[in-house]
Amino acid sequence: MRSFSDLFLLFAATILLPAVLLFAADVDTKFHNAPASAKATKNPYQGQDAAAQAGKRLYASNCLSCHGKMGKGTGNVPSLVDGKLDSVAPGEVFWFVTKGDKDNGMPSWAALPAKQRWQIVTYVKSMGTSQNSQGASAPAPPDMSTSKLKAAPPTPPFTDFRYEKPGTVHQITVNDLPQPYATQSAENGPKLVARPDNVWPAAPAGFKVELYASGLDNPRTLRTAPNGDIFLTESDPGRIRVFRGLTSDGKPEQSAIFASGLKQPYGLAFYPPGPDPQWLYVGNTNEVVRFPYHNGDLKASGAPEHIADLPAGGGHWTRAVAFSQDGKKLFVAVGSGSNVDDPDTSPREKNRADILVCDPSNCTLSVYAYGIRNAGGGIAVNPETGELWCSVNERDGLGDNLVPDYITHVQEGGFYGWPWWYMGGHQDPRHQGKHPELKDKAIVPDVLLQPHNASLELAFYEGQQFPAEYKGDIFASEHGSWNKAVRVGYEVIRVPLHQKGDASGDYEDFLTGFVLPDGNVWGRPVGVTVAADGSLLVSDDGSNSIWRVSYSGK
Ligand code: HEC
Repeated sequence: MRSFSDLFLLFAATILLPAVLLFAADVDTKFHNAPASAKATKNPYQGQDAAAQAGKRLYASNCLSCHGKMGKGTGNVPSLVDGKLDSVAPGEVFWFVTKGDKDNGMPSWAALPAKQRWQIVTYVKSMGTSQNSQGASAPAPPDMSTSKLKAAPPTPPFTDFRYEKPGTVHQITVNDLPQPYATQSAENGPKLVARPDNVWPAAPAGFKVELYASGLDNPRTLRTAPNGDIFLTESDPGRIRVFRGLTSDGKPEQSAIFASGLKQPYGLAFYPPGPDPQWLYVGNTNEVVRFPYHNGDLKASGAPEHIADLPAGGGHWTRAVAFSQDGKKLFVAVGSGSNVDDPDTSPREKNRADILVCDPSNCTLSVYAYGIRNAGGGIAVNPETGELWCSVNERDGLGDNLVPDYITHVQEGGFYGWPWWYMGGHQDPRHQGKHPELKDKAIVPDVLLQPHNASLELAFYEGQQFPAEYKGDIFASEHGSWNKAVRVGYEVIRVPLHQKGDASGDYEDFLTGFVLPDGNVWGRPVGVTVAADGSLLVSDDGSNSIWRVSYSGK
């Protein structure tokens, strides 16, 4: 077998060398003003596979939080894989990593042993060569260079809409959290405008985005029925729609009203799970109801049957519903009535900020997990592991970069902090001194999202159409911020579960471009579902439409 370095040399000779020769004239030869001695210093581990592997682990613990898993960077953190480093000598990268550039946000790594710094350099240089071909063919993101927003770039790992683009990886950990009130609490709700004709959502290379349906009224949750029909709640007008078939230009062949006259319906789930459901359960804001349903129904054949009362009256009004795989549990997510009122003294918070559970046919609700400010936007059972997952809107009023929204698997009986604690044992300053006994119980969620993202529906990708690496991953809609000085969210993200059903804490921008360079908003993703053909459908209650994302590989 050829060694890594042989292969590397072969690769360099056939592909990189001509490229470097072609473009050498354009390349700035001064890399952060590195001295000539840096360029002359040889990497003692050049091309060694073991060094690159060790470097990969060191990169993950020291560099990934800013430069991203794939090295693509975000915000003011530069990409390490856009080809620029190809013409930079390993010794110069080593010199820069050692020294850092504190004024511009790059730490000094002088404290790491030299051997480790060389290992990281070995890895960083190798990641560029393996990814350039992918990066080059990515579609142009919306042109934010015309943005008139004067705001400074965000401080990684936090970001804002100007720096969201398909494929960009983000990772936030509890170590990144600022102090409460580090910045002011913003009042910055979206100004909705019509989508300009030349603007379209952006997806990663190889994916195509089409307008599936438009002219809807407050489209929210999307669900794919076992027979492939697409169900949608239109919450404001209180109805459920169903779409069937697909025309050659990517539109449904049929659309019908399945039921109407409901009180702010949101969540939808077919029961029992499996190919032959008998009921469609609906989360209205004040109750769970169910309609008789059989494959192929375009209209409910009977009146809604009352299943359970839900606490309603103010605050978060959406009620997400889902069934366990064995059909024995009905989960209902009920968000808080307020931002951060204390349930001990605020009666309206009773049985809110919880995920509730009951037997679907004889429902008496009890608490399954608590301290979850609002999972009413999205819960779903992972088809590979059977675990319940949720997508959560965390609290406001503590500044731009607190508190991260999150996506996590849900532990039965688990406490997720609200309102006294957040992200583990961080006390909310508005509840200083309360419930010390809960400090160690507060669970740190699996995936921290940008604070104020307003994370809503989530769906597991079990389709056959997208590349195999997407299998089992989560897609989630981020409705978009109001409590952040520069908007964030307004996108669909991908949470990789690595074919293991476990999140690693990072997520990736998948469908972006709903905010214009001037900061005005034309679209707001809410629902996501995987259609029978493996394409992804996304409802958008900003432009009142549904988008269809399919993979063509071109
Ligand atoms: C706290 C965030 C942060 C961390 C952690 C971080 N970097 Fe950086 N890095 C930056 C920023 C910001 C810049 C841009 C600095 C500038 O413009 O001078 C940068 C620049 C660089 C550059 C120069 C890229 C170019 O095109 O000019 C390299 C190489 C680099 N970082 C490597 C690393 C490595 C290797 C690690 C881990 C050992 C690391 N960085 C960790 C934020 C970070």
